Amino acid sequence: MVFIKNILSYSSVLFIFKIVTALQNWRSQSSVHWTENCDFEGNPVANKAMPPSKCGDFCQFMVADCTHFTFTTTTIAPNGIGTCWIKSGRIYREQAIHLDSPGSICGYLAIHWINLAELSWSFNCNFSGNDIKNEFSEGESCGALCIQNPPCNHFVWTNVEGQGICWMKFNSTISKESAVLTPGSRGAVCGILRNGGETVNTTSPVSWSKDDECECVC
Ligand SMILES: *[C@@H]1O[C@H](CO)[C@@H](O)[C@H](O)[C@H]1NC(C)=O
Ligand SMILES: *[C@@H]1O[C@H](CO)[C@@H](O)[C@H](O)[C@H]1NC(C)=O
Repeated sequence: MVFIKNILSYSSVLFIFKIVTALQNWRSQSSVHWTENCDFEGNPVANKAMPPSKCGDFCQFMVADCTHFTFTTTTIAPNGIGTCWIKSGRIYREQAIHLDSPGSICGYLAIHWINLAELSWSFNCNFSGNDIKNEFSEGESCGALCIQNPPCNHFVWTNVEGQGICWMKFNSTISKESAVLTPGSRGAVCGILRNGGETVNTTSPVSWSKDDECECVC
């Protein structure tokens, strides 16, 4: 009896350990972060059949307001095709719950700064207010426009109905922490000049692990 009890408690410790490590093993590619065997509770705003490798891009580029997603599959599904469940609203990755379903993935979008010599920029982010001027532009030109138009020290590029606009902004105390995630297909890009009073930390609705490696599941 004692023996059986010990086995039970030992395996339940292992089981808990497995859940914890699974939900901590977040990986990322650009703005998309994901891990396996998990779910974010809450009602989906859309769903579509696809392979798991497309679900993150579908969230980021195709569905307005997508901030997070769950991918589920069944063992009878051909070629790993399953369902990408799109969700919206602010999420913390600590809210991911274990889903005992092989092949399932859950993920979310977060601000992911790309640091260049003169500026840092990210997809899916926005700075509110502080506008000094705006111009039609390609996305790649917006940082240069900001540099050429002092006192611009941060900017947002939007692409509404195929019309790109560079919004040049100034605020002497701006930092990356002021950037907000713009979900899904709204597609804003934001940037901040190196001399823009930035701090080295990044921000997002979730804690960001900058050494995440891409294994290209998503
Ligand atoms: C960016 O923020 C401004 C001000 O809050 C808002 O009016 C605008 O719609 C936002 N743009 C996007 C793409 O979210
Ligand atoms: C400038 O940025 C700071 C920090 O983000 C903010 O508290 C302040 O309201 C901003 N000023 C204006 C005029 O928007």
